[in-house]
Amino acid sequence: MSEMQEDTNTERPQFSADALKQVDEIFSRYPKERRASALMPVLHLAQSEFGGWLSRQTLDYVAEVVGVAPIRCYEVATFYTMYNLKPVGKYHVQVCTNISCWLCDSETIVSSLEEKLQAKVGSTTSDNRFTLSAVECLGACINAPMMQVNDDYFENLTADRVAEIIDRLP
Ligand code: FES
Repeated sequence: MSEMQEDTNTERPQFSADALKQVDEIFSRYPKERRASALMPVLHLAQSEFGGWLSRQTLDYVAEVVGVAPIRCYEVATFYTMYNLKPVGKYHVQVCTNISCWLCDSETIVSSLEEKLQAKVGSTTSDNRFTLSAVECLGACINAPMMQVNDDYFENLTADRVAEIIDRLP
């Protein structure tokens, strides 16, 4: 289980008006008495709204918005690896190292990324541009090996292609 981290910014998190509309749309997918089911998509929205990660304060805020006890929110956020519990760089590079990708040489993809970014898996570059993570199956096994950069998937990777993709990021 990952540990939660406090945000050094003491301002209380608050969804933008646009995000609040999205929260309402998420709530509309579930019966009123099952609003807790909206927890995961609202956490996902909060992650993109509040800088790519979920601080303890953000988790408390999401719990309040969804109407669940904070512990319910902590349990979900610390269980699933798609929720970042500490700050990430501008680009979060997640390389799948699960079975299909591993069989298609994800080890080479990981090492070429570590070399290209000059950062080890689990770390963020000193300029805060990249965070490199190794993750479990991202559901694109048919085109293994693959990685996710923020919201985009890149598949059928080779070491050369990885370098090209990284170089092209603005
Ligand atoms: S094993 Fe890598 S995407 Fe499924």
